[in-house]
Amino acid sequence: MTDKKVLIEKAKEILKRNNVDGYTVPTHDLYPFQWNWDAAITALGWMKFDESRAWLEIEMLLKGQWDNGMVPHIVFHKPVDTYFPGPDVWGVKNDIPTTAISQPPVLVSIVKIMVEQATDKALAESKLTEILPKLIAYHQWWYNDRDPENTGLVVSYHPWESGMDNSPAWDESLAAVPPVTYKYKRKDLDHVDSEERPHAEQYDRYIYLVDFFKNSNFDSEAIYKNCPYKVNDLGIITILHKATKDLIFLCKHANTNKQEVTWFNEQLTLTEKGINTLWSEEHKSFLNKDVITQKLSPILTTGTMLVIYAELASAEQINVLKPLLNDWLNETKYCMSSTYAKCEAFEPQRYWRGPVWLHINWMIALGADSYGLIEESAQLKTESEELLTKFGYFEYFNSETGVGCGGDDFSWTAAIALHWFL
Ligand code: GLC
Repeated sequence: MTDKKVLIEKAKEILKRNNVDGYTVPTHDLYPFQWNWDAAITALGWMKFDESRAWLEIEMLLKGQWDNGMVPHIVFHKPVDTYFPGPDVWGVKNDIPTTAISQPPVLVSIVKIMVEQATDKALAESKLTEILPKLIAYHQWWYNDRDPENTGLVVSYHPWESGMDNSPAWDESLAAVPPVTYKYKRKDLDHVDSEERPHAEQYDRYIYLVDFFKNSNFDSEAIYKNCPYKVNDLGIITILHKATKDLIFLCKHANTNKQEVTWFNEQLTLTEKGINTLWSEEHKSFLNKDVITQKLSPILTTGTMLVIYAELASAEQINVLKPLLNDWLNETKYCMSSTYAKCEAFEPQRYWRGPVWLHINWMIALGADSYGLIEESAQLKTESEELLTKFGYFEYFNSETGVGCGGDDFSWTAAIALHWFL
C-alpha cells in the first residue's frame, strides 16, 4: 500500500473504532459521548466511505435537540463513568440527557457539503427534507435566544460553548465568575497529562456556570439577564454566520421556508453591521468581547481569524488582516496556532492556548481561498497534511514541535484527513 492508502485506511479504522451505536465518540474514555461540532465534522469523514452512516451521525445528534431548538454541546446517549461533569451534574431532565449549552454551529455548513457531495442523491434529498425543519429551529434559537436585543452578535455563556474551552481570550471574563467551593473529582486528568489540561482555578468556574444554568431552571431570559459570564465569541459568531448563509442555500435548494429565508437574511445583515463593533484599529484585527464589561479581549485567537471563513471582513479589513495571517502562519513551525505566538498567553502545548487543531485550520483555509489568498491556503493545507503524516491522528498538535497531544485516534482529525487530503 502507498503511504496515502495507509493513511486513508487508518482514518477509516479510527471512525469505525469510535463508532458506538450510530454515533461517533471523539475518542474513547476522555470523551465518551457525542459532541455537537465533533459530530458534524466527523460526518464529513464518514461521507467518504459510508454515506448512510454519515447521515445517521447527524440524525443521532439531532435526537438531543431541545424543544426550543437548541442543539446541545453533548448528547449523553448512554451512561459512561469516565467523564466529568456528566448528566447528573448538568441536571437536564430530557428523555435523552444533554448539557445545557450549545457549541459552534458548523452543523448546517457540513450538511450543505454533504448534500453537494452525495453520490446517493435520493438519500441526501430525503434526509435533508427530514432534518431541515430542525436545522431551521436551531438557527432561530441562536438568534432569538442569544441575541434578544438584535445586536447581530449572539452571546455565549460558557467557555465550553466556544469549543475552544481553555482559550486565553476567556481568562478575564472567567475570572469574574465565582469558583465553586465544594470538592469534585475531575476525570480528564485520569486520561491526559495535567500539563495539557486547564488549571483548577478555571475548572472551578466552569462548574459554577454549570450549576448556575441548573439553578436558573434553564430559563433563557433569566440566564441572559443574570449570567456572570457573557461574551461575544468570534468563533461562534462567524461559524453561525457562514452556516446561516448555507441554511438559506439549503432552503432555496429545497424550495421551501421563504418567510424564514427573509428573516435569516435580516439576521445576516445585522451581523454584517454588528461585526464592525468588534474591529480594533489598535490590534489591526477583530477581537472577542466581554459583553458584561463591554471590553474587547486583546488576545488574538484563531476564533478572531475565522472572520475570513464567514467572509465578514471588508476589502480594507482584509488588507490589514493579510500580513497578520502571514505572520501568524510563520511564527510557529506548523499551521495556525490557536493563540497567536506573539501574545503573552501563548503556550504551544496547552489546551487551546497555542496548539494546532486541524478542523480550524481547514476552516481558515476555506476562508483564505474565498479571499483569493491562495498561498496562505496552500500553506495551511500542506502543513496540516505534514502534521498528520509525521505525528498521527491526535486531538491536536504542539504548534512548535508538531508532537500530537490530548486524545489519540481522534475522530475529527481522522475525518478532516479523509475530507481534505485523501
Ligand atoms: C474539548 C474541546 C471541544 C470538543 C470536545 C470533544 O472539550 O475543547 O472543542 O468538542 O473536546 O472533542
